[in-house]
This record gives sequence, structure tokens and C-alpha cells, in this order.
Amino acid sequence: MNRISVSYNGKPCYEIVFHDRFAGLAGFIRDLGFAGRRIAIITDSTVIGLYEREIREELSQISDRVCTFSFPAGEDSKHLGTIEQIYSFLIGEHFDRHDLVIALGGGVTGDIAGFAAASYLRGVSFVQVPTTVLAQCDSSVGGKTGVDFSGYKNMVGAFKMPALVWINTQVLKTLDERQFIAGFGEVLKYGLIRDVSFFDWLIEHREKLLARDAELLSEMIRRCCEIKRDVVEQDPEEKGLRAILNFGHTIGHAVEKYLRFNRMHGECVALGMRAALDISCRRGLISRDDDERISKTIEDFGLPVRESGLDKDEILTLMRSDKKMDGDNISFILLDPPGNARIMRDVTADELLYGIEQICLS
Ligand SMILES: NC(=O)c1ccc[n+]([C@@H]2O[C@H](COP(=O)([O-])OP(=O)(O)OC[C@H]3O[C@@H](n4cnc5c(N)ncnc54)[C@H](O)[C@@H]3O)[C@@H](O)[C@H]2O)c1
Repeated sequence: MNRISVSYNGKPCYEIVFHDRFAGLAGFIRDLGFAGRRIAIITDSTVIGLYEREIREELSQISDRVCTFSFPAGEDSKHLGTIEQIYSFLIGEHFDRHDLVIALGGGVTGDIAGFAAASYLRGVSFVQVPTTVLAQCDSSVGGKTGVDFSGYKNMVGAFKMPALVWINTQVLKTLDERQFIAGFGEVLKYGLIRDVSFFDWLIEHREKLLARDAELLSEMIRRCCEIKRDVVEQDPEEKGLRAILNFGHTIGHAVEKYLRFNRMHGECVALGMRAALDISCRRGLISRDDDERISKTIEDFGLPVRESGLDKDEILTLMRSDKKMDGDNISFILLDPPGNARIMRDVTADELLYGIEQICLS
């Protein structure tokens, strides 16, 4: 077991614990003051059958008031209707402000359970137990929670720091191949925006990582969490620097919406990164060699860099209605050079169309 701690506004706030099992989780939750309290496990219809029993058994050491709420797996559940169902469930279980919510699942579960916890009774504590590559490397850290609204990604939400993040890398074994690979969209992002030697490390260990070598996966997840921790500690509520974590997401989210969420989030991030790389290259911020090498790496990891059936004008329109717009300007992340992301507010519609064109497979 090892751990890193995350501060919020300069004060230690929560720990990220890396372990190869769930044993030990109850002790941490007891130390947070929740022994004997009501604990609601929020999970989805897939993860409930895989890990809920084990977590319940673990928690039975500290509380006999553990209950579970599950919702249909997938992005389609990430809406206010599910949040309302969770409120009703918590009310039915007589939850009060001293009780605890646990998010057990991927990024969708973390975002839903976190937002329910942020808003129920003006906020109850919650623990993240992420079970996908994407959630372990990215979404469980940093306190962004929320749901989609009216077709727009993460349109309604809140910043709510977890009380603890428990990362059991063994659970990645049960992820199906496409889900597993999709998570690498965010992983590669971390190398590209902040640490080029980590990006090279990913290339060097690609085969073993994709073969799910447990030790290497742990090392990789820890490094991603460290990078994210360093960014969110400096700018927890995205007033500036934190926006670099959106590298690949501005076009990625528009593609995700255009494809009606039929492509996974991590896959759309990969497409968005490829477009942003080409715009960076066109501006002379990265070399043609780097552009091609990075694009090839994204493909080598099994992620898409081109997509058929995209309408570039429609994607641009969708981007303009995204919440990352800053007035009429799009806040767009480019690389300058690889390993260093920059927030740009002067990217033109022409450049955006050029980037989108590069991912369109005719
Ligand atoms: N809050 C943030 O900072 C942040 C950051 C990045 C992404 N996100 C959000 O995360 C979401 C994507 O997360 P995701 O890719 O984890 O999707 P997800 O939560 O839908 O999980 C993907 C699928 O894998 C299944 N699954 C989860 N763990 C499993 C396991 N161990 N074994 C077998 N199956 C398992 C789930 O049931 C689901 O069907 C998007 O909604 C995105 O917007 C949030």
C-alpha cells in the first residue's frame, strides 16, 4: 500500500491510497469518523455484481447500516433524473449530514455520486472507489462532479472534494478491452501536458501496460494522480492553470455529443488530442515529427485518431455552445512543446476547422 496526499486551498484535504485489494478500506473510513454511521454505496448495474459484496463485507467491520443504490451502467444515466432517484433513496434511508456516500465504479459513477453528495442536505462526505482506468487515473481526483444536461456534457455540477480516494488496481482485470483502452486517452494526456518523460515511459512500456501488467499499471496510475494533484492543488476551481487538463476535451466533447455518446469518453479525448496536436503543429509550436510521432502513439495504444461521418461545421457549432466558451472566445489548449500545455484564447474558427478536418475520415 502507498499513498499520496492532496491539499485544498493550502491545507491537507484527502489521501489517495493505492492498494491491490479492498481490505483496509474500512480502517481508513473509521479513521475519518464514519464508524457506525450510515454508508450508501452508489454503483452501477455492472459493478454491483463485481465488487459491491466485497466492499459491503469490508464495511461491515465498522457499520451495520450499509445500503446500496445502483443505476443502469453508462453515460446515459448521467443526468438529473438519476440524482433525484439518489436523493429519494437517501431520504428513504434516513441519511443525515454525518453519513457517508461511497462512489464505487467508473467516472460516470464518481460524477453522479459526487454530485449527489455535494448537493444532498447541502453536502455530505463522499469517498471515491474508482474501478476504471479513466477513473483511477483521472476523474476520481480533483473534486469535479456533475451530470450532463440537455445533451451537453457536465453542464450541471459542483466542486466537491472526496474524503478519500481508494485505488485498487486489481479491479482493472475485469474491464473489457475497449473500456480498458479508452482510459489511455486520459493517461497519454498527462504525459503530453506536463511530463514528456512520462509520455516516453508509456511508449517504452506500452505492450506490458496493454497486457495489464499490475506493477506497471500501478506505477502509471500513481504518476497520473501525482500530475493531476500538482495541477489541482494550484488551481482547484479551474480559474486558470487547471484548464490544461482539458487538453483534447474541447473538440473531444463536441465529437462525443455529435456521435450521441456512442464513442467512449477516452476515445473522443484521443480524437480531440489529435486535432489539437495538428493545430499546435500548424502554429509551429510542435514539430511535424512530434505531431506524427504522438499521433502514431495514440493509434498504437488502440485509440482512434480519425473518425468517419463527422460534419466539421456541426462539430464547431457544438463546441461554441460548450461551457468552455469564455464569452465569444474558445479557451483552447495547445502543446508548446510536447510536455507543456498552454491555454490559448486566440485560436480562430479557421484553425479549429483545420484541426477537426484532420480527424475526419471521409
Ligand atoms: N470528474 C472528472 O474530473 C472527470 C474527468 C474525466 C472524465 N470524467 C467523466 O467520466 C466518465 C467516463 O468514465 P468511465 O470511462 O470510467 O465510464 P463508466 O463509468 O461508464 O465506466 C465504463 C463501463 O465500465 C464498467 N466498469 C466499471 N468498472 C469496471 C470493472 N472494474 N470491471 C468491469 N466493468 C467495469 C461500467 O459499468 C461501465 O459500463 C464521463 O462521463 C466523463 O465525463 C470526469
